Amino acid sequence: MNISPILAAIALVPQPAKLVETGGVTKNAEIRYVTDSAVPAEGYRLKVAADGITVTSSDAAGRFYAGVTLAQLKDGNSWPCVEIEDAPAYRWRGAHLDECRHFFGKETVKQMLDLMAQHKLNRFHWHLTEDQGWRLDIPGYPELIKYGAARSASVRHGQRATKGSKEDADKLNGVKYGPYYYTEADVREIIAYAAERHITIVPEIELPGHVFAALAAYPEFACVPANLAAREPRLVWGIEKDVLCLGNDKAIKFMEDVLDYVCRLFPGDVVHIGGDECPQVRWKDCPKCQARIKAEGLKDVHDLQPWITRHFVKFLEARGKRALGWDEYLLGDVPKSAIGMSWRTRPKSGAGHALVSGAQAAVRGHDVVMTPNKFCYLDYGQCLPNDPFQYIGGKLPLETCYSFDPCADVPAEARKHILGGQCNNWSEYTWNEYDLAWKMWPRTCALAEVFWLGDAKPGFADFKRRMATHRGRLIAQGVNCAPLE
Ligand code: ACM
Ligand code: ZN
Repeated sequence: MNISPILAAIALVPQPAKLVETGGVTKNAEIRYVTDSAVPAEGYRLKVAADGITVTSSDAAGRFYAGVTLAQLKDGNSWPCVEIEDAPAYRWRGAHLDECRHFFGKETVKQMLDLMAQHKLNRFHWHLTEDQGWRLDIPGYPELIKYGAARSASVRHGQRATKGSKEDADKLNGVKYGPYYYTEADVREIIAYAAERHITIVPEIELPGHVFAALAAYPEFACVPANLAAREPRLVWGIEKDVLCLGNDKAIKFMEDVLDYVCRLFPGDVVHIGGDECPQVRWKDCPKCQARIKAEGLKDVHDLQPWITRHFVKFLEARGKRALGWDEYLLGDVPKSAIGMSWRTRPKSGAGHALVSGAQAAVRGHDVVMTPNKFCYLDYGQCLPNDPFQYIGGKLPLETCYSFDPCADVPAEARKHILGGQCNNWSEYTWNEYDLAWKMWPRTCALAEVFWLGDAKPGFADFKRRMATHRGRLIAQGVNCAPLE
């Protein structure tokens, strides 16, 4: 795209799909809004001219995004004269936040929503339950907060502890963490804040694994209640072996009550039910789980997770919601209406089934959100010199984020199932809002441009040039944005 020095100095992120400079600048801030059903969903046409500004869209989101572009275009008290025609390549443009390993709170979430909106991201995936913490107050289950929302200790800064071994115990800090959780009033406030920014919240309630904090509150929902004698969440990181007892009707009723409440509280169309990393060792030795396998005519322990997934996909659909889950929950016989969130780049085998990659899931007819760790996990290292922050591992420099193609590996006929992508902010090694911002920005800018422009993205050199200016815009807002290299 040939642009004038004026526009080069302004720098739009994400770059609009089509932009023509018509010459000169204007101070005329008068805006006319036009509705035209021919403009694609969330898209807009924007004309900035001497006689004022015209915004044309078919929906409120498009009008909002025209405003976002206008805010970036503004240079002092004038705008360059341009004609823009813009619409997103993908309808799912997400950012995820793990508030369980570490809790960030309402103000950080609001700032994240502000920044998401500035980058035309429209899905906030809120990871609210985990082995290490339960962060949502649920009516009728007061013990969840009493036992599940605080830990007596956490892994010390600079330490790695994942197994719960004796040596790991030496790496704990002995400092009480929490109780940290959201009340219904908090959640309603955040839902409204997100809605004003055209962001839909996707709450995540993990099942049947990653539920140790809930089991601390209600040990009777585990296969081996004695393992929960300490009545507190898991203290170290890593995957917990104690999971929901799927032979216990009361444990399933508990999850139904939680999800029924979540469906009523959150107005969005999708609820995430986790499904990743669920060990089966407790189910193997549990008389109740074995009785369930017999009663339901399941082949073996590997069929328990698909059985519970089928149950909750239908449960959510009866409440007008679509189920979303990490790629493991597509194992076995699961309805095509279930949406997959693909977090691995390649299929692996596991849990008695061949795991499906996101591309394979799309070929099978599932809608898929692509969040492969190699491109989208912002807890991986940025490869910056002297980076003061700690990462879980892996390497994910800015350029790799920008190189992400959600449809790579997906055959043409299945691409209609790729809803989009998302950056994931896991927080084992992310302690506070400064740490979080450093990891999110500028890499989220790169992914936002990928999700907005798809194949039409102009290339990393062009992006980096614009980012030099845009980073200043973020820093001026107090965002702890990392350097570009
Ligand atoms: C995941 O990273 N376990 C979804
Ligand atoms: Zn069991």
